[in-house]
Amino acid sequence: MTAAEVARGESTGKGVDRGTGKGRGSGRRLLPSLARLRLASGLVLFAFVLLHFLNHALGLVSIAVMDVVQTWRWALWRSPPGTILLYGAFAVHIALGVRALFRRRTWRMPLNDALQIGLGFAIPVLLVGHILGTRGMHVAAGVDDFYEPVLRRLWPDGAVSQSLLVVIVWGHASIGLYHWLRPKAWFPAAAPWLLSIATALPLLALAGWIEAARRLELLERGRQVPRWPSEEAAALAEWFAQAGNHLVFAFLGAVGLGLIAVRVATRLRAKVRISYGGGRRVRARPGPTLLEISRMNGVPHVSICGGRGRCTTCRVLVTAGGETLPPRGTLEETVLARIDAPPDVRLACQIRPTADLGVHLLVPAEGADAGQRDPYRWGVERRITVLFADLRGFTSLAEGMYPYDTVFLLNSYFEAMTAVIERHGGTVDKFLGDGIMALFGTRPERDAGARAALASAGEMLAALEDLNAEFAGLVPAPLRMGLGIHTGPAVLGRVGGMRRGGERELTALGDTVNTASRLEEMTKEFRCLLVTSEDTLKAAGIECPGGDFRQVPVRGRSETIAVWIADRRETIGDILTVTI
Ligand code: FES
Repeated sequence: MTAAEVARGESTGKGVDRGTGKGRGSGRRLLPSLARLRLASGLVLFAFVLLHFLNHALGLVSIAVMDVVQTWRWALWRSPPGTILLYGAFAVHIALGVRALFRRRTWRMPLNDALQIGLGFAIPVLLVGHILGTRGMHVAAGVDDFYEPVLRRLWPDGAVSQSLLVVIVWGHASIGLYHWLRPKAWFPAAAPWLLSIATALPLLALAGWIEAARRLELLERGRQVPRWPSEEAAALAEWFAQAGNHLVFAFLGAVGLGLIAVRVATRLRAKVRISYGGGRRVRARPGPTLLEISRMNGVPHVSICGGRGRCTTCRVLVTAGGETLPPRGTLEETVLARIDAPPDVRLACQIRPTADLGVHLLVPAEGADAGQRDPYRWGVERRITVLFADLRGFTSLAEGMYPYDTVFLLNSYFEAMTAVIERHGGTVDKFLGDGIMALFGTRPERDAGARAALASAGEMLAALEDLNAEFAGLVPAPLRMGLGIHTGPAVLGRVGGMRRGGERELTALGDTVNTASRLEEMTKEFRCLLVTSEDTLKAAGIECPGGDFRQVPVRGRSETIAVWIADRRETIGDILTVTI
């Protein structure tokens, strides 16, 4: 998938590892491979632990049965391939776990994650001594490490530590499996069963090895059975235990110091570096959104909705440091899901970099500098008032007139209406045949231009009466006009082909425009002068002006809207004196 495809939101998820968010065939195979390696190594270790614990559980039957099954397990794990697989997985899993820890920039994390990390680091403290005391002693001194001698050595002194080891290992593995399985579709249905197994298995393992050890103790009561076959073996075991402890604590100390060093370095660095590709880099202190950082540093960055998380035009492909970002929030997730954006794509207006970040802007920013000078260049969402006006029956009226007179009349009408609209701060968006679409509140206004639109409507009707008086001898019948007004959010932007001056026309798009147009059409049905929505009256601060209120269905909207119908020009002027 190319960046261009991502930019167009053309990803279908094919070829993308949803778990890691990296595309197949990209130059960044390393990270997903490491993630899979960590999972695979964890699964190998889990398989070992599962068989080991099941073997322990057989202690509820007898030590002899435990040993029989143990030989089968050894056939697997003590074979050369099994040994390489097991200890390789152990080393890889620890290395990747430490790597993940060093890549963390924050210690704020869900309880599950914290528990998994804590348990993960507790494992070597108890496990290394166990490994050295069993297989280590077997390899180094040929010491028998079947269940019976091992139980004799562990019971009762090691009862607590070994039981704790069972719980810690199982807890760490269970949380890891939970994270892996939770996204699967079948998981919710299987969860109760899995939880039962996850609870029962360690309990059976604990019960099995403790029962076997106690039975052995009872059997040998009164007899002096040496724990180790010789003095040398006992001394070697002691040395192994101490060396193992030193090794583990040196390792944990090194990791701890490394983490502290990373934290200190991060604090000292203070500013984060944002790389936009093409050699462009900026530095900024953590806090602002990526979009704000772009703006502060003069990096052209498109943001049609102004950073409200609605338009996706600020989206970026995160090429480095994505793991330092918090997961997508609900808003970001919802908006990006609409364009089926891959996991690496983030909204610049929603992310606040706290560490170095590499990004690629996905929406072309050519001309974004101009866009910053002219906010309408890339579109602005704003609450505005839209007015539609249409001459009633003008086509049939014009049929009885000379074309020159028709043009003259229409131009006179448009000039008069434009003058009224502009006098009230509105702009004529376009002329549609004999109709007019006008916008009010295109500059931020508290009432979204609603009062100006209503005042314009009244004056436009008055201007029409003047025109009718002026052209009484020219037109066979007086001109009549219907007006529709609605207030709501719309996207204001420059749309269409370039004009001579190198700029596009400003227009409004969206449901508010369509609704205003439908209200104007309703004036024919209701045989009235004006249909305005209650939203416009409210925006204008007009409450219950009296008269004809109706709830009407509007084509293209699922819900009806409340409208106010005026059939006299004076009524429109009157309502502007009624305020909340
Ligand atoms: S600027 Fe619109 S979603 Fe970010």
